[in-house]
This record gives sequence, structure tokens and C-alpha cells, in this order.
Amino acid sequence: MNYIGSKHKLSAFIVETVKAVVGANLTGKVFCDLFAGTGIVGRNFKPLVKKVIANDSEFYSFVLNQNYIGNHREIAEKSAFLAELEALTSADDGFIYQNYCAGSGSGRQYFSDDNGKKIDAARRQIEAWKTANRINDSLYYFLLASLLEAADKVANTASVYGAFLKKLKPTAQKPLTLAPAQFLLNNDNDHEVFNADANDLITQIRGDILYLDPPYNQRQYGANYHLLNTIARYQPFTPQGKTGLPPDYARSNYCRKNRVAIAFERLIKRADFPFVFVSYNNEGLMTVAEIKTLMEKYGKYRVVSTAYQRFKADNGRAYSAAATEEYLHILEK
Ligand SMILES: C[S@@+](CC[C@H](N)C(=O)[O-])C[C@H]1O[C@@H](n2cnc3c(N)ncnc32)[C@H](O)[C@@H]1O
Repeated sequence: MNYIGSKHKLSAFIVETVKAVVGANLTGKVFCDLFAGTGIVGRNFKPLVKKVIANDSEFYSFVLNQNYIGNHREIAEKSAFLAELEALTSADDGFIYQNYCAGSGSGRQYFSDDNGKKIDAARRQIEAWKTANRINDSLYYFLLASLLEAADKVANTASVYGAFLKKLKPTAQKPLTLAPAQFLLNNDNDHEVFNADANDLITQIRGDILYLDPPYNQRQYGANYHLLNTIARYQPFTPQGKTGLPPDYARSNYCRKNRVAIAFERLIKRADFPFVFVSYNNEGLMTVAEIKTLMEKYGKYRVVSTAYQRFKADNGRAYSAAATEEYLHILEK
């Protein structure tokens, strides 16, 4: 998934830095990814540590992490269920088609008509199986994650869901295909996944390595990925305005200039983890110097950095592709 702030390309840098600081053998450690997004950082640590705790305040991220982090044992018949979803007859009275496709007269075009109908049919079927107890939580989240990933691939947007394109772009014209959202089967350890505000959850968890990757600018994830939440939740509401946002999407303090430093300091102060790593870039709401001043109050601090290609929309217009500096702030409490 092309996600704002994704650490996919920085994973090796993060793993190597953590190993250099904490030690090469992490097998006994509890690693927490508190702002997990796509879950890619936790996925990289999953085979290396005893336990991963993943959290994000957005529900679509919770679904992805329930699958990629929470699931670690083989799920019988997962391919058969996915094939059944693939073969469903599309529904033209579903929430996505009615509100986010052009053919229904919604005035929005986030998906082609066929793909919107297919998302509705699959989403309803997953819920029906769950309600009838035909699938357990592991399979439920595997199927939902597979649907979210598939829908995102055919979305008719420049990149995020803050707006749709007037014409269907080539990838949006392709039929939605349900590929399995593969997760690692590599160990017997149980992992934990939460859907909470980081500042609330921090008082309830403890571990060895805390990885923090908060939003670094004012762009709220709840607005930019609202359709993923809508598909994941599938609870009717009245879509607002041209973009079709839900009326009550969450607004994070980490995206607010006048609140971020207070929230961040509270988080660092309350963290019951001996090692804290914070990803942030040099164009964020907090400056590198501010983060340093704040973190060094709570222990031994240092910072490392690497050059990085910033998030880019696929029409090349919305965000520039200039190189930026990505920092990893390190605190030993
Ligand atoms: C920079 S992204 C993380 C990207 C992730 N590391 C990845 O590689 O996919 C920041 C994440 O923080 C989440 N978030 C924002 N405010 C939050 C809060 N107060 N508590 C928990 N998660 C929050 C957003 O939903 C978003 O997924």
C-alpha cells in the first residue's frame, strides 16, 4: 500500500539501528509499534522478537495489523474462502457503489462501478460469514485485509482518498482481484494488536523496544484514508460533501501544531520501555532540535539519519518527490 509515511523502504535502516543499539539477538524482546499504519515495521520485527505489540488509532490499520501481526498460524481453507468471495455476483445496492461510484449518480468516482459493486458484495459476505460463525477472527481479519489491499490497488485517486480523479485512471479500470494478504507463519508466539490512541495505550503496556512513527504533518490519516475505514467498518452514515467523508473522522493531536509537542512529551514520559526509537523527518511539525530537547530530559539520547525519497502521489502533481532527511531519535530511559 502506498501509505503516507510508510517505512517500507526504511525497514532495513530501522532494523539495523535497533540491533546496533539493543543487541543483535532480539529473540527475548517485546517490540511495540505504537503508530503501526500498514504494519510494515512490526512485520519486519515479527520474526526477530518474542512478541510484537501493534497499535494504530485508525480502524483500517487495526484490520491490517490483526492480519499481518496478529495472525501467525496457518488458517485452514483461507484460499477457498477467498475464492468464494472472488466468485460472488456483484451487488448494486451496497454502500460503496451507492455513495462512491459514478454509476449510482453519487457524484463521486473513487472506484469503477464494477469494482465498487464487487467490494460491496465481498464485504457483506465476510460479515455474513462472521455473524453465522462460519469464520473465526483470524480468518475474518485475513479476508478483510485482503479486501482492503485489493480495493486500494484499484482506487481512482492520485494516491490518498482526500479526492478522486475525474476520469478513471488505468489501474482503476482493472478489475479488483482478491490476492491473499500474506502473513508470516514463523513462530508460536502470540502478538497483540490494539486500536487505541497511543497516549491512552501507553499507560497499559510495557516491553523492551518502543518504536514511534507518529504523523509528522497536518494531514489527518482519518481523512486521507477514509474509504479504507468505510470499507473496514461498513456501517452506514451520511457522506459529507464532494469527498464523501464520514462526519466524525478522528483527528490526531500529532497532526496539530499547537498540540503535538505536549502529546509527544507525555508519551515519552509515560513509556515503560528501556529503549525508545522515534522516526521523524526534517519537514515535520516538530523540529529535530525540539525533539532532542524534549527526549533528552528522560535519558540518554542520540540521533541517526538517512537520506530518503519523500511520499509521492502517483500523478506526480500533488506532492513533490524531493529527497528529505529521515531521522531516528534514540532514547535509553
Ligand atoms: C507515519 S504513519 C505510520 C506509518 C507506519 N510506520 C508504516 O510504515 O506503515 C502514522 C500513523 O499514526 C496513526 N496515528 C495518528 N495519530 C495517532 C494516535 N494518536 N494514536 C495512535 N495512532 C495514531 C495514523 O493512523 C498513521 O497510521
